[in-house]
Amino acid sequence: MKPGADTDVGGLDRAAAVRELARLAAEIARHDGLYYGENAPEISDGDYDALRRLNDAIEARYPELVREDSPNRRVGAGPAQGFAKVVHARPMLSLRNAFGADDVAEFLGSVRRFLNLEPGTAVPMVAEAKIDGLSIALRYERGRLVQAATRGDGSEGEDVTRNMRRVADVPVRLAGAAPEVLEVRGEVYMGHGEFGRLNADRAAEGLAPYANPRNSAAGSVRQLDPEITAKRRLGFFAYAWGEVSEPVASTHSEWLGRLGDWGFAVQPHAGPAEDLDALLALYDRIAAARPTLDYDIDGVVYKVDRIDWQERLGFVGRTPRWAVAHKFPAEQAVTLLEDIRIQVGRTGALTPVAVLRPVTVGGVVVSRATLHNQDEIGRKDIRVGDTVVVRRAGDVIPQVVEVLVDRRPKGAAAFTFPGTCPVCGSPAPRSGEDAVRRCTGGLVCRAQAVERLRHFVSRNAFDIEGLGTKHIEDFHRDGLISTPTDIFRLCAKREVLLGREGWGEQSADKLLAAINGRRAIPFDRFLFALGIRHIGEGNARLLARHYGGLKNLRDAVCDKSARDALIAIDGMGEGRTEDLIAFFADPGNRRIVAELGREVTIKPLEAAAASPVAGKTVVFTGRLETLGRREAKVRAEALGAKVSGSVSARTDYVVAGEASGSKARRAAELGITVLTEDEWLTLIGGT
Ligand code: IVH
Repeated sequence: MKPGADTDVGGLDRAAAVRELARLAAEIARHDGLYYGENAPEISDGDYDALRRLNDAIEARYPELVREDSPNRRVGAGPAQGFAKVVHARPMLSLRNAFGADDVAEFLGSVRRFLNLEPGTAVPMVAEAKIDGLSIALRYERGRLVQAATRGDGSEGEDVTRNMRRVADVPVRLAGAAPEVLEVRGEVYMGHGEFGRLNADRAAEGLAPYANPRNSAAGSVRQLDPEITAKRRLGFFAYAWGEVSEPVASTHSEWLGRLGDWGFAVQPHAGPAEDLDALLALYDRIAAARPTLDYDIDGVVYKVDRIDWQERLGFVGRTPRWAVAHKFPAEQAVTLLEDIRIQVGRTGALTPVAVLRPVTVGGVVVSRATLHNQDEIGRKDIRVGDTVVVRRAGDVIPQVVEVLVDRRPKGAAAFTFPGTCPVCGSPAPRSGEDAVRRCTGGLVCRAQAVERLRHFVSRNAFDIEGLGTKHIEDFHRDGLISTPTDIFRLCAKREVLLGREGWGEQSADKLLAAINGRRAIPFDRFLFALGIRHIGEGNARLLARHYGGLKNLRDAVCDKSARDALIAIDGMGEGRTEDLIAFFADPGNRRIVAELGREVTIKPLEAAAASPVAGKTVVFTGRLETLGRREAKVRAEALGAKVSGSVSARTDYVVAGEASGSKARRAAELGITVLTEDEWLTLIGGT
């Protein structure tokens, strides 16, 4: 489900999301290495958390873009040495988020539809507080705790048995009869009182405080010395199960009862409900209790009570269809805005960022917030020195909600948005209706050049491994690479590379091999890599399918009559065509493309025949939650399907989103396969 409409990620297009996710994966992996491998973190826990949450928010918005090396797929807290790996017998999954009553209603509707229930059939549900801790799997054999593991990447976690044995709420022997094998899952957390005490101790020792109870619970579970874990007095709530040698219960409520009998603590803030109103009433009750609790909760989880139904509902990707997390709304805090800095992106966009006096918002220390663009600053009249209200919504990039004008210091001047690029000094005008100022420096601008190079090597573009941001920045600064072609020219400069600090034979050869391995590239990736404004992966694929090769595309861009055909390609439109034309009209860009053509071989797009929907006629109807109608169409066409607006006997599939109405009915009458959006995504392989 979507993050709140007011979150920044909502406005992120796919191309930007791809880039962001690549950047975040590399960045987070680097900080994990520094923290766990070298014990020398460069950033605060709060900033680290903010990176993780930004990554999570983008992944939630674009689940299909989740990378193989996503921080959520790797062992969560990084590769700590000293903990053995544990492969989970059943993967440890996560939950979809709902941010309001509409999302919850949609969830209930999707459960009913999937189970194909008669109107009037009740769906008993359980609502329980969502604990903001760390998920842990506890394995019992013949009633004894034999293993405890962290969630890790969901498939493989770390063995933290010795530590979890020291958590008071975790029974080392179960009370009463239990199945031979029983895996209990739940959340380990640190109470507020304990958190305060721990941070006071750390301050007394001159150590940096932990950012929030969740981080310190994670840090405490991952101590190499179990004595330290024991001292930290953690709590544990049990709620789910993994592998069990025999069924234990037929409903979730019954299961919670069994957990209690065995000696586990179960969430007291829970209850049964049969419809939307009852669930929302429980949500309100739990939300009202939240300030009185000694531990953090960040929402309410709704679960289908009947376990046989849960089994039928199964999973989509890494989340169950039978449960949803109804998140609490954004939390706010008041702080000082110390400065406004301007960042320059790949397309030259100047984005203002607020530098804040660090403040805890919803358990995370926030020190930066996006200010979007010049108009936003003007509209809210945000000035340096102002006291501002900061909000994190749906766990994403913090925003400045409003200025407390009565606390404005005398003499605070209105912010003057620069008319020139702060990095290269080139003019940065606004064009037309665009609220964004853009640096006109092109590749002369270091910031733009570096961002473009980063995009060029990113995973869905040339996918050159081992050329991270730091290397690109260094190589660019030292004149080793200025344009994408220079990356390929590095192969003739092995000696130069070897002469640089930090590079040895092995690392240099590895990088050069990675570069050489990408000298043949499919046309769509090539196009995407060029970083043309508004030409994301979907459009690049469309164009690649349509034109087959670079020459045809260039001809179409340059030829007046062929241009109309370009505009007419579904999913392109006038704006994108203009961007494309502008790109190829620029002599610098033309030179880069020509030079690149000498270094790499562009392969025509792989035949779409391999796609399961090639040649099929598809009708999309209703609201599509993950893709949106437009994106769904672009992708279907990229896979060789024909997308039609009306259902007929020739239709192969109708993909019915929310409120699909007459088309889905007509399809059913004609005996045409009607798929949910999830089923469609599964069919096309989530691509
Ligand atoms: S049920 C298939 N119940 O929230 C996953 N999860 O954001 C079933 N969590 O990974 C999970 N409180 O670690 C469930 N009462 C609760 C929970 C809960 C916290 C965690 C869990 C999950 C994460 C998803």
